Amino acid sequence: MSKPTIFLTRRLQPAAMRILEQACQVSLWDVEDQPCPRDVLLRGVAEAEGLLCLLPDRIDSELLEAAPHLRVVATMAVGYDNIDVAACSARRVLVTNTPGVLTETTADLAWALLLAAARRIVEGQRMIERGEWGPWYPMQMVGIDLCGATLGVVGAGRIGGAVLRRATGFSMDLCYYNRRPDPELEARTAARYLPFDELLRTSDMIVVTLPLNDTTRGMFGAREFALMRENAIFVNVARGPIVREGDLVAALRSGRPRAAGIDVFEREPIGADHPLLALPNCVCVPHIGSATIATRTRMATLAAENLVAALTGGPVPSPVNAEAVGW
Ligand code: DGY
Repeated sequence: MSKPTIFLTRRLQPAAMRILEQACQVSLWDVEDQPCPRDVLLRGVAEAEGLLCLLPDRIDSELLEAAPHLRVVATMAVGYDNIDVAACSARRVLVTNTPGVLTETTADLAWALLLAAARRIVEGQRMIERGEWGPWYPMQMVGIDLCGATLGVVGAGRIGGAVLRRATGFSMDLCYYNRRPDPELEARTAARYLPFDELLRTSDMIVVTLPLNDTTRGMFGAREFALMRENAIFVNVARGPIVREGDLVAALRSGRPRAAGIDVFEREPIGADHPLLALPNCVCVPHIGSATIATRTRMATLAAENLVAALTGGPVPSPVNAEAVGW
């Protein structure tokens, strides 16, 4: 029996390539650090039964039109806002993602940003680099304590739960906002449910771990920043468009929130002239929530396992729209 044809928008780690090459006939965009150009992608899927894609690839009706044989789109990410899942479902194309394997790594980054923003780590290093570190004085580079503060997680799913779990060592008061209360999460983390506005008013530290969808797009803007406490620290490790970036810049300039840690941006990648980079009270990193060797390798192998299982009739580890396509 001939192997199914698949297209990859990037070469993956060897462990994932082995899984794919054993079961499939593989063609790919083989440039490690550049997204697959749209015309290459559209040509690449013309004969493909499977597509393995990454965050920068837009999977929409145009692409589905160009891919008459496509049966599965496997993304190497937990978030799939770059994929028109409804359009895939309408064509009975299965979509899969990589939940679970990046939870702890992303929660670690949320904490790295919380600590860096609250304790002015990057600002301090820049001050030294500029040769401006003068003699010690009482209020030099003072920040905000995490210990004893109230931590509010907005969108407490897997990653948000892991962020809350890490707070134990900091003796924090914990709260969360989800569409509805989650008694299991409360039992596990001792976090209490608060309505959204109340969480914003109550929390000293706010971490966003929501998925991006029509409800969450633009959820944080001028109104929400104005509700925050004066010394609040704001962290976003979810998706950039959940935050109105212009409003965040204005809010940070006015000092409420006091500081922010940002991993994700409205349009990625950002350039060196992005206004958030000019603010001393904002720590920016380039969408590295899941970026450890072990986690990125696990994401790649899980994406490969999803793709192969979908094409060979095995149980698919993490389908997104199984019901809709009758899987
Ligand atoms: C995801 O998986 O959605 C992250 O944003 C990238 O790791």
